[in-house]
Parts: sequence; C-alpha cells; structure tokens
Amino acid sequence: MRCDHTPAWKVLTAHAAERKGFDLRTAFAQDPSRADTLSQTAPHVFADLSKNLVDAATEALLRELARQTGLAAHRDAMFRGEHINSTEGRAVMHWLLRQPEGSLGGDLAGPLAQVHATLQPMLAFAETIRADAQITDVVNIGIGGSDLGPQMAVLALQDFVIPGKRFHFVSNVDGHELAGVLKGLKAENTLFLIASKTFTTIETMTNACSALGWFQAQGGTNVARHFAALTTNVAAAAELGITTTFGFWDWVGGRYSMWSAIGLPVAIAIGVQGFRDLLAGAHAMDQHFQTAPLVQNLPVRLGLLDVWYRNFLNYTSRSIAPYHSALRRWPAFLQQLEMESNGKQVDRNGHALAYGTSPVLWGEPGTNGQHAYFQMLHQGTDVVPLEFIAVKKPTHNWAKHHELLLANAIAQAQALMLGKADEGGHKHFKGNRPSTFLLLDELTPASLGALIALQEHRVFVSGSVWGINSFDQWGVELGKVLAQDIHARMASGQVAGLDASTAGLLKRLR
Ligand code: F6P
Repeated sequence: MRCDHTPAWKVLTAHAAERKGFDLRTAFAQDPSRADTLSQTAPHVFADLSKNLVDAATEALLRELARQTGLAAHRDAMFRGEHINSTEGRAVMHWLLRQPEGSLGGDLAGPLAQVHATLQPMLAFAETIRADAQITDVVNIGIGGSDLGPQMAVLALQDFVIPGKRFHFVSNVDGHELAGVLKGLKAENTLFLIASKTFTTIETMTNACSALGWFQAQGGTNVARHFAALTTNVAAAAELGITTTFGFWDWVGGRYSMWSAIGLPVAIAIGVQGFRDLLAGAHAMDQHFQTAPLVQNLPVRLGLLDVWYRNFLNYTSRSIAPYHSALRRWPAFLQQLEMESNGKQVDRNGHALAYGTSPVLWGEPGTNGQHAYFQMLHQGTDVVPLEFIAVKKPTHNWAKHHELLLANAIAQAQALMLGKADEGGHKHFKGNRPSTFLLLDELTPASLGALIALQEHRVFVSGSVWGINSFDQWGVELGKVLAQDIHARMASGQVAGLDASTAGLLKRLR
C-alpha cells in the first residue's frame, strides 16, 4: 500500500503533531537508557542515533509504516533478483557483486558464477598494473557513478594506496580538467581507464577521444596496453579502438557500480586483498540488512529516520560531516547515491506523489564546515539534521590533531543538542537540533565497504517506503537531449523556435 494511504501514516502524522514540543534534553533526562537504546552496532559501524528527534515509540510507529508498505518483502525481492527496477525492466543486484563465490543456489548461482569469473581477470589485471613500474599514472575517465564511488574510495583509502602510482579522475566535459591532468603526464607512463556503463555518455566519450588523441600525438601506439574500457557496452568500446575491456551487467545501477569493473582503479590502488576486503565489508552489511530484525537493523533505522524527518517534521535537507579529511568526497558520493535514487515525483506506477522524497544532501569535512556554514546549523531558521562520521584510530602519529578532531565532532553534536539559553538575543542557541553519529574503529577497505553498503541500503529503505523506483534516473535525460540541440545551434547560429533567454545567451556566446 502506498505510504500516504496507510493507517500508520495517519498515526505518524498525529504523533508528529503531539510531539511538537519534543525536546532532546528532556528526553535524556527522563530516560537514562536513551543513549543505549538508541545506539547500535552493525558490521564495522557504531551508530549513536540518540540525538535524533525520536524515541522508542516513534521508531515503533515507523516500523509499522515499513510493515504496512511491505519493506521486508521488497528487500527480499531485491535479494531474490526480481526485476524491482520496473521502469527499466531490470533486476537490482549490486549486492551480488560482493556475494562470496558459490554461496547461492537456484537462479542466482549462474549470475554469481559470472560475477566471480569476471572479477578474477579484473583483479589479475589490477595486479599486473601494480607490478608494472612503467605505469606511474592511472587516469580514470568517467562521470557520475563511473567516477564518484571510485574517486571517493581511492581518496578514503589513501593509506592503502600503492606507492609510486598516482590516480587521477577526469569527469567533467570541461576541457580544463583533462588539460590540467594531462599536463603533467607522459603517454608511456599512463594507463587510461574509460569507465562508462553505457559507453554513450557525452562527457566521457569526449574526454576519451581527446585522451586518445593526446596519447597518439605523444607518439603512443599501444592502445591495448594504455587504454582499458570498463563497461557493459563492449561493442562501443571496440568501435573506439579499445580492446582491453572489463564488463558488467545492466542489473548494476551506475551509482551502485563501484563493486564491479568500475572499481578497477580502486583495485589497482589498494590491491587484490584490499578490494576483496572492501567487498567483504559490504557483504557483511548486506547480511545485516537482510537478517537483522527491523528494530536492530541499522539501514532500516536510518532510512526510517529519513522518512520521519522528510515527511513528518518537513525537514528538506541533511548535512553530512565526515570528520576525516580522506572522506572529503563522501558528501558528493552520497549526493548522487541518494538524490539520483530518491529524487522522484511519481510512485512506482507513475502516479504523482503527494509527499516529499529525497532531501537535499550537502556537506564538507569537519572541522572545515564549522568555520563556514555551521553558524546556520546552530542558529539558522531551518532545522537540518546532521550526520557525523568519525574514525577512532588515525593513521598518523599526531595524537593531538586527532584528539582535537574527535573532540570537535563530539562537541558540535553536543552543542547542536544542548544549545545555550543563558544569554539572549544574538548569543542564544535554541539547541534541540538533531544529529546522528557514525563511528568507525578504523578507516579500512572493509569498514569503508560496510559504510557504503549501509548508505545504499538506507536509500533503499526510504525509497521503498515512499513507493518510488530508486533505481532509474529519467530526470537526467531532458538536459542531455537539449544540450545536443544547443550544441548544434552553437555551430549554426540558428535560434529559431527558442525562448528569448536561451536565444540571447546563445547569441552572446557565438
Ligand atoms: O546522467 C546520469 C548517469 O546516467 C548516471 O546515472 C551515471 O552514473 C552517469 O550518468 C554515467 O553513466 P555511464 O556510466 O553510462 O557513463
């Protein structure tokens, strides 16, 4: 049943009205066990949810909403390989990419065997490149899901990256980006990975052709050695002259694809064992999502919290604060994951929705954000739930730095909640501002894998409750089509039929 037609939706609406005065400070004072009951461990991740504007009763009602909207059945359908991506007629099986070899029977045994048969040569290639001292620079050319996940992971795991190789990511069609990267490179020392699920994306194709041109202009001839394509469309790669290819399947969504051949730059960077650990961490979270009771199921709790904030407290954004500089691309990665998945206006049957879906996600690493936009989080007129991510053990030896970093993260969460009432006016902090605190022991391939899978499943949960298809992205198509038209008009100067603003801009740029 669609969420807004369920009895639970009505009950939650009334509950939210009753709880208008809910105050975190009172909640902690009244319930000494609150920090414990609203905290939990999941594989590799500890989550303190207690500074959120919920209590056990709210969570129970949200679970009832999940029950009435069929969340568990929908989750199980995904894990059975059913075509839950209904608008594209596809299964949603990124989770299969991290499933141990031979661990599934039935209809999924074949696809799983293919996954491992594809993973092995990809990892073997990664090892060859790692051992090849002549290749000093790896350039990933891809955009969206073919860029953000691998880029975020290579940065996050910088302490595990093989010395002597540099990793570059070129995504934008803006030639300044490609030019900036190529400036410092030599053809004979460079491996280009052309990452595109469809191998039709204009930005990636344009960058790939220019990179090929640069390689040849530098005297490079061995394209098979210096270019590899990561794609489901091997035929299109061959047309471009790229014969070293690593494939995957249409049941892997772009923003869920870093576990596939799209993860090759990560595998080159951190090695076979590292990549396998990344997969294992994600698999541990898959199992948690599949088997933990809803009451202690972290992706479920986070996804339902997202629904609570979006639909019942009407908060329209969530800020992401990774207190670890290596996680600086984490907010950008989450933006695509959540906003491309759940930024939808119709339900799975194409009917308009009467309620909000994806919040806006945004953020920067702490402590930098504190000196930029945290003012608004503390004293602005909008309430923005904040999600902290912190890592207990650093990999450097400056203990004081790490102590200060963690102290700041905890203090910010505390300040948001407690506020400060003793001074009025400009110095007044209302407090009662919600946050979630995610804590990893260490930032490793395994813990990163688990953290990413946690976010993937949390997006599944809210999308499922909202009754939308989280696995298509029709909203990106219109701009692509219009850009082709405008591009042609740039050459011809033809503005007939355009609105006055578009025509005016075109004329100025000619
Ligand atoms: O335009 C959006 C999108 O289709 C994303 O969903 C995808 O991750 C990205 O473009 C890149 O697509 P591809 O991997 O096919 O080049």
